[in-house]
Amino acid sequence: MSANSPTPSVRPGARRGLIRPLVQDLHGYVPGEQPKIKGLIKLNTNENPYPPSPKVLAAVKAATDGRLRLYPNPTALALREKLAARHDCAPENILVGNGSDELLALATRAFAEPAAPKAGPERATTPAARRAQSAATIQFFMPGYSLYPVLAAIHGSRTNVVALAPDFGLPPLAVLRKSRAWDFDAGLSFLTTPNAPSGRGYPTAELDALCAAHRGVLVLDEAYVDFARENALALALKYPHVLVARTFSKAYSLCFQRVGYFVGHPELLGALDKIRDSYNVNGLGQVAALATLDELPYYRANFAKIIATRERLSAALTKLGFTVRPSQTNFILARPPAFPAAEWLARLRARKILVRWFANSPVSDSLRITIGTDAEADALLRAVRAELRAPRD
Ligand SMILES: Cc1ncc(COP(=O)(O)O)c(C=O)c1O
Repeated sequence: MSANSPTPSVRPGARRGLIRPLVQDLHGYVPGEQPKIKGLIKLNTNENPYPPSPKVLAAVKAATDGRLRLYPNPTALALREKLAARHDCAPENILVGNGSDELLALATRAFAEPAAPKAGPERATTPAARRAQSAATIQFFMPGYSLYPVLAAIHGSRTNVVALAPDFGLPPLAVLRKSRAWDFDAGLSFLTTPNAPSGRGYPTAELDALCAAHRGVLVLDEAYVDFARENALALALKYPHVLVARTFSKAYSLCFQRVGYFVGHPELLGALDKIRDSYNVNGLGQVAALATLDELPYYRANFAKIIATRERLSAALTKLGFTVRPSQTNFILARPPAFPAAEWLARLRARKILVRWFANSPVSDSLRITIGTDAEADALLRAVRAELRAPRD
């Protein structure tokens, strides 16, 4: 036990006075497991099965010398310039973060008010109360990325959770308007596109219509967009209240380095720039991301391989009785036959294959399976066939 660990003799709650009640009561984000089990096939956190390009590894190695004593470029300027050239915008339209998670957290702090401790009735009645309620609202569709509610809870904002259609489609704009389910003035709204955990992609035209009608800040979280048919980057350059979040983690095999970025209007990005840590993006991460942008053909070939494996695995699992959702990401959501999803999680784990299961969620009847290599997909299929043959305990 380290010197900082709470001693078992301290009664729970005895330290309450030292920690804000909000933090005491908080349920933090639960990341996918990162177990160190030899031979484990890890299909639980949507990492890319292919390594970074050899040139990216060489660039990181070459930068690992005495320069580590120096601070990195505080605004990741070279990277922003290269990203701007790629996306046909100005460096002022780009803000780089320590993974896109950091940027999502910065957005909660910059755009949503924490709700007043005693916020009063849930439905505000006067225009001023309605405005205050909207300003303190963080809004997102469900199911979606499970970090959003945690960010809202950390910040103390109220949440407005809007259900996706049963097929994970966005509710039509007319329905959002009429039902008043969606708050077009919410301080901050998140939309995962393509959706996680379902993998469903959304046409840019549909997102454009929502952006046009929306008035609060809207973040289009495109963490998986490189595996999709369409992207909505142009909307971040078209609308001053829309930000697009991208990451080097998934498609560019760089989870370890933590580099993500926002594209959007300089006014919104300027607000985030004021509240971020001065050196929020580590130097080796900047080096790796810059080298990645010189190697796009290598990564595009990997996207094609992952998409081909995704389609083959989806078809094979469907034949075995799984209900597999069409996916435009590097994972699939599959409802298994024969045993409940939680039991499949345990059975596959016993065979050293780790997938993701979300307890207490609208998709708790399903498994989210990251697309690995072809060999990993074959191993998964062998394990599934063996389990379907095995007698039930
Ligand atoms: C929808 C979505 N957005 C953002 C992220 C965060 O990515 P990162 O912080 O690695 O850039 C994830 C990671 O799982 C994700 O699933």
